[in-house]
Amino acid sequence: MELKQQIVKILEENRGKSISGAKLAKQLFVTRSAVWKAIKSLQKEGYRITATTNKGYCLAPDNDIVSAESILPYLKGKARNFTLSVYQSVTSTNTIAKELASGGATEGTVIIAREQTEGRGRMGRTFYSPNATGIYFSIILRPNLSIEDSLRITTACAVAVSKAIETVAGVEAKIKWVNDIFVDDKKVCGILTEASLNFENGGLEYAVVGIGLNIVTKDFPEELKPVAGSIFKDKPEDIPVTSILVAEILNNIANMMDTLMDEKHLREYRNRSFLIGKQILVMKGNNTIQAKAIAIDEKARLVVEYEDKTVEALSSGEVSIRPNPLGRNL
Ligand code: BTN
Repeated sequence: MELKQQIVKILEENRGKSISGAKLAKQLFVTRSAVWKAIKSLQKEGYRITATTNKGYCLAPDNDIVSAESILPYLKGKARNFTLSVYQSVTSTNTIAKELASGGATEGTVIIAREQTEGRGRMGRTFYSPNATGIYFSIILRPNLSIEDSLRITTACAVAVSKAIETVAGVEAKIKWVNDIFVDDKKVCGILTEASLNFENGGLEYAVVGIGLNIVTKDFPEELKPVAGSIFKDKPEDIPVTSILVAEILNNIANMMDTLMDEKHLREYRNRSFLIGKQILVMKGNNTIQAKAIAIDEKARLVVEYEDKTVEALSSGEVSIRPNPLGRNL
């Protein structure tokens, strides 16, 4: 572990309390000046570390730079066995997680980035992933599911995320089929599940679930402005809220892993889904077809009724709410 990371670890363990440079230097077998240099560099990266004469260095209680050490104290139960790797900037956490999964990485391997330069969304789109205002992570899962039931992973994770947002932010978080999370009619989170199949047994080899959260992002690119929003208007003071939210999502996912086929996740998914009963547009290739969303079926497919009264269960694809003179097209 490089010196800066070791210092972050110790400061995280003592969040809000001062530790002298001498103590840090002794514990890490380096000089006080090496500690000082590392602290300066961390401050430059944005870490809120105060330095007080005679007292030492102190990580501010609301320092919200995510590190493995900042998340670990909030992990509970099975999520404590997860392996977290945190990066400042990567192309896409899903791409990295997929490479690791193909190389045999175990369930519960989590890749977290504070910024993505090539964040990927569903349907080949990009996912806007700026530094400091959002957090982006992917988890490797190896559930014992058939291909047919694999949509359950996405729906269970959507429930995990929306529950965590409600618990940590205290706002209502709704799910737009399949896996977009909305707060106040704005998309605050996107989930991209990518899976590899095992052709021998017709099951899943692994799934990578990528979750992108807009924590306090405000300056969205022009094309996203009508739809995108953030979980918080302002970040709460005195707590590392991003780390707490990531931990809560991981706790919820860990809790669901053994019960993915349990109907209760689907019930919760339906309860949180806001498309049912709405007039929607179904995108099929270049065509857009008007329909009404009537249900989420037992396979987590969206059941729609077209204007000619034919009914179809969609297992993938893109739908949006039909625009009306007063509303937005989501
Ligand atoms: C969507 O809204 O279309 C899905 C967006 C998924 C974004 C997340 S961010 C972490 C992970 N890495 C990626 O490149 N994409 C997912």
